Formats: sequence, C-alpha cells, structure tokens
Amino acid sequence: MADMDGFKEAEAYGFGKPQENTAFFLKGNENRGWGVKNRLSRIFNPETGRTVMLACDHGFIMGPTSGLERIDLTINPLIEYADCLMCTRGALRSVIPPTMSKPVCLRADGGTSILTDLNLNRVYDIEDVIRVNASAMAVMVAVGDKASEQMTTHNLVHTVDMGEKYGIPVLGVTAVGKDMVRDARYFRLATRICAENGASFVKTYYTEEGFETVVAQCPVPIVIAGGKKLPEDKALELAYRAIQAGAAGVDMGRNVFQSEKPLAMMQAISAVVHKGLSAKDAFELYNDAK
Ligand code: R5P
Repeated sequence: MADMDGFKEAEAYGFGKPQENTAFFLKGNENRGWGVKNRLSRIFNPETGRTVMLACDHGFIMGPTSGLERIDLTINPLIEYADCLMCTRGALRSVIPPTMSKPVCLRADGGTSILTDLNLNRVYDIEDVIRVNASAMAVMVAVGDKASEQMTTHNLVHTVDMGEKYGIPVLGVTAVGKDMVRDARYFRLATRICAENGASFVKTYYTEEGFETVVAQCPVPIVIAGGKKLPEDKALELAYRAIQAGAAGVDMGRNVFQSEKPLAMMQAISAVVHKGLSAKDAFELYNDAK
C-alpha cells in the first residue's frame, strides 16, 4: 500500500480543455493498432513524415557482396545517421550491437539464393521477430512470377496476420522477376497488391516515367530501394525525384555502403529526404562532408 502521508488531492482536471484526438501522420495507417503506429513512428520521423532506411540485408540472397564483407566495419558506423536499419536476424545477432537504439526493419523471409530461383521463401517465426525487438517485418512479394507469386503473396498475408496480432507493421517489398518490365504500370500493380494484402508500407523502385502514379494509387507510404550502385550525384538525383514525386523515403543499400564516402552519402541522402535539399545541393554536401 502506498504511503498516504502527505497525500495530495487530484485537482488538475483540465476543465474546458477537450482531450485531443490526433490523426496519425502516415498515409493509410490511421486505423491500425497502437503498437503498429508506435513502431511506424520510430521508423518514420513524425516531423517530416519520412524515413531514411539503411538496407544491409543483401547477404541473405547474395552472400558477402561488396561493401558488406564486414558489416561490423562498414555498416555499424553508419547506423546513427539512419532512421532505421534494415537487416537480417543473423546480422543482428552476430554483429549489430544490441546497445544501438535505432528501430530495426527485419528481413523476415528467406529461402532461395541468387544461384537458384529467387524468392521461394518462407517466413520467420513471429516469436523470433519479437525476440529481436523488431519494429517492422520486411517480406518479399514477387508479383507476376509464376514460380513464386503465390508463395510470396501468402508469406505477406501470413506476416500481416502475425503483425496485426502483435502490433508489428509489415513492409511489402516488390521483387522484380527476371521477365518483368520495371515500369510504372508494373509497380502500380505490385505495390497495390502489397497494400491491399495489408502491408503498412511498401518498398519499390523509382521509375523515370510515371512514378507519381505509383505513389498516388498506393494507399500506404512508399519507400524506394536504391538498386545497383550509381555515381553519387545520380543516386542523389534518384532520391530527390522520388521524394518530389511523393515517396515517403528511401530504403537504400548499395548506393550508400558501396559509395566512396558512405557516411557523407548518408548525410546527403538524409538532407534530401528530410530537408528537401535539391540533388545539386546534396551533392555539394556530400563533397564537403568528410
Ligand atoms: C532487396 O531485396 C534487398 O532487400 C535490399 O534491401 C534492397 O534492394 C535495397 O537495397 P539497394 O538499395 O542496394 O537496392
């Protein structure tokens, strides 16, 4: 029993001040549970509504790709400049310090590699996702690929069911099969299928033509992958155009960790995403940064 000596009577009832009901800041996520919204608010900056995710999950399909030979040496120093780290549970447990405070978007599926048929994946146990304190689960969806479309869509559906149960949002990752054309028409279809099956946000690729239509028809936020390494000014231009077309951020990997100056690249991308810096100014920032 609490000590009642000196008990102070409650009196600050705030009469005349209605309790505030605030709308959730992220498109299409208003009607989710508190846990999902709280986790999304750790990934997306509530001030800007955007995010810079640092992707380093590539090893789960392509092994020690350039820049990720030693995640402890190349990625760990960058974590503090990202809003969110996207990685596998293996990387988390082996090399990412548990003392870091950034939210993790966990790669939550695995299966085949670049040596065989990609995307024949199964998903992690939700208990393991909870054990590593993930803020989101990322699942690949291969729309249009005969061999893996059904399996990967089922993976998304199952992951969303588990995520809704435990309050963990799901990132639908559009995987482009070998025979798919990477145009706005395809990405409208693929992103919409992810959102309609319950993803809280969707990762896709930027398209030169019509990217704004991809964003407009997707009822949840879109973040773009960087794709293969480009010259730094071109990668910043890609990020800038995507943001201008309505993307809510980036989930970039190779264009950061394969850059000559990864830390400067993180800072420049963050300025584009959160401060609306032009690609030209961001490239100057990149060149000026050490
Ligand atoms: C692809 O599925 C991987 O999950 C990467 O996270 C994604 O492609 C983003 O990395 P990058 O910017 O290197 O394309």
